[in-house]
Amino acid sequence: MRVLFVCLGNICRSPTAEGVFRRELEVAGLAHRVEVDSCGIGAWHVGKSPDPRAAAAARRRGIDLSELRARQLAAEDFQRFDYLLAMDHDNLAAVRQQCPDGCRAHISLFLDFAGHADRPVPDPYYGGEHGFEEVLDLVDAASRGLIDEIRQRLEAPRS
Ligand code: 4NP
Repeated sequence: MRVLFVCLGNICRSPTAEGVFRRELEVAGLAHRVEVDSCGIGAWHVGKSPDPRAAAAARRRGIDLSELRARQLAAEDFQRFDYLLAMDHDNLAAVRQQCPDGCRAHISLFLDFAGHADRPVPDPYYGGEHGFEEVLDLVDAASRGLIDEIRQRLEAPRS
């Protein structure tokens, strides 16, 4: 199973989601069954480390984002990943627009998995520290919901 988190710049929300989801997979004993990555719609920050504010907020919760580097959404991602999970409605529209015909990946807002239908992860880039804490809370809740679904899919008998 392969999961890709998508935001605008790939330096705040989606790397945070990647780090949090990786930790939740380890806690759930599923880290060896699920591949995780993140990317951005835009190219401005390609090759950069996560925003220092996002990295510091994650570190306070014991999550290390220092190895991550930003990259842009690519055509191959639609074949490679089972889930492409967008942080907000603009990201979602961009993913859907680039999605090739016949693509079978699940594409939705990430917070759908937290039981928050149609709700975005707010962009913290132009705000204060609180925004980065909120991102962590939201992606943590959604990570747990996504793990519940993935566990069911992995345990379901093949038909
Ligand atoms: P992200 O946040 O999409 O969560 O990585 C942003 C990062 C950079 C910019 C906007 C949002 N920017 O305008 O450069």
